[in-house]
Amino acid sequence: MAARIGIVNVSQTQKTVTSTTLRNADAAGIAEAVQVLRAGGLAAFPTETVYGLGADATNARAVAKLYEAKGRPSFNPLIAHVADIAAARRAGKFGPLAEKLATKFWPGPLTVVVPEAGIVCDLARAGLNTVALRVPKHPVAQVLMSAFGKPIVAPSANRSGHVSPTTADHVFADLSGRIDFILDGGATPLGLESTIVDCTSDTPLLLRTGGIPREQIEELLGAKILDTPNAAGKALTAPGRLASHYAPRATLRLNATTARADEALLVFGPKLLNGAQDTKMTLNLSPRGDLVEAAANLFAYLRALDASGATTIAVSPIPQEGLGEAINDRLTRAAAPR
Ligand code: TXA
Ligand code: MG
Repeated sequence: MAARIGIVNVSQTQKTVTSTTLRNADAAGIAEAVQVLRAGGLAAFPTETVYGLGADATNARAVAKLYEAKGRPSFNPLIAHVADIAAARRAGKFGPLAEKLATKFWPGPLTVVVPEAGIVCDLARAGLNTVALRVPKHPVAQVLMSAFGKPIVAPSANRSGHVSPTTADHVFADLSGRIDFILDGGATPLGLESTIVDCTSDTPLLLRTGGIPREQIEELLGAKILDTPNAAGKALTAPGRLASHYAPRATLRLNATTARADEALLVFGPKLLNGAQDTKMTLNLSPRGDLVEAAANLFAYLRALDASGATTIAVSPIPQEGLGEAINDRLTRAAAPR
């Protein structure tokens, strides 16, 4: 794809206006992204989960720009992405629990929260004494991280509160004119953010469901994993778990068993809902009922249904197992009142 320059949409509240370059994620494109990061700029890139908006994790000015571009409350800390477990051990203090999880699931869609080790800047950690770390599996992310050589903070590359991006076009639609660079590496294979596990004590806590299903973590640890940060008497430490998040414009109606003509419809599995043929638009996350396929389609389909202009998106029930738990988590938050 040819380079594209962002259409700059200047609003009065928008302070940073910049032109956004979109490039293919080949060797030259990745080298350009590295230059952008070295210069303290913002470069979006694909990971196996969703597109991330990258900045140098050691550069507070770059991180400040990132918060501004996303419109993210600065109390919401970021995940630092590194090339391998050795780099992760330099940025955070790994106990036996973090070691075990990282050894099993990295590279991959798992983020561990561990005590920080003085590399990732305070602003990126939102002042916490812990740091969230992840080694992504996507080949483009891998090459980018190795070439850059320092941790890269990367929240999902969307405006704060919007649906996470699974294609470079989603990133462009949300952040064009607010960031420097986008690496286009095609659609992200997984389509759901990483699972986040707090490893700051001996008791693991599930801070966010995601690409690694709960069952796989419990199998590895041989125990149930607690899933509310408050369950162990801690303060809420994953502010991304605000009730309203991943929000389309339309209202979501979950666990729908019938569909109305004025609604858009999101279904799962071979059985269509009554009224499905009359809706504004119907999309099936996975006609064969595969939760992995459904996860990969979720955010793109929410965007498409939202763009249909329907004021309500009806969603049929999704099984609460495997990746279904994370899918239902995102849908519940997309449906929350705001
Ligand atoms: O799959 C992913 O994780 C994607 C890709 C780009 O890697 N990234 C992502 O980042 O989803 P973001 O910023 O959208 O979500 C980061 C989450 C937030 O809920 C934040 O509160 C939590 O991680 N987090 C970050 N640092 C933390 C910390 N020290 N303690 C607890 N939670 C933390
Ligand atoms: Mg996000």
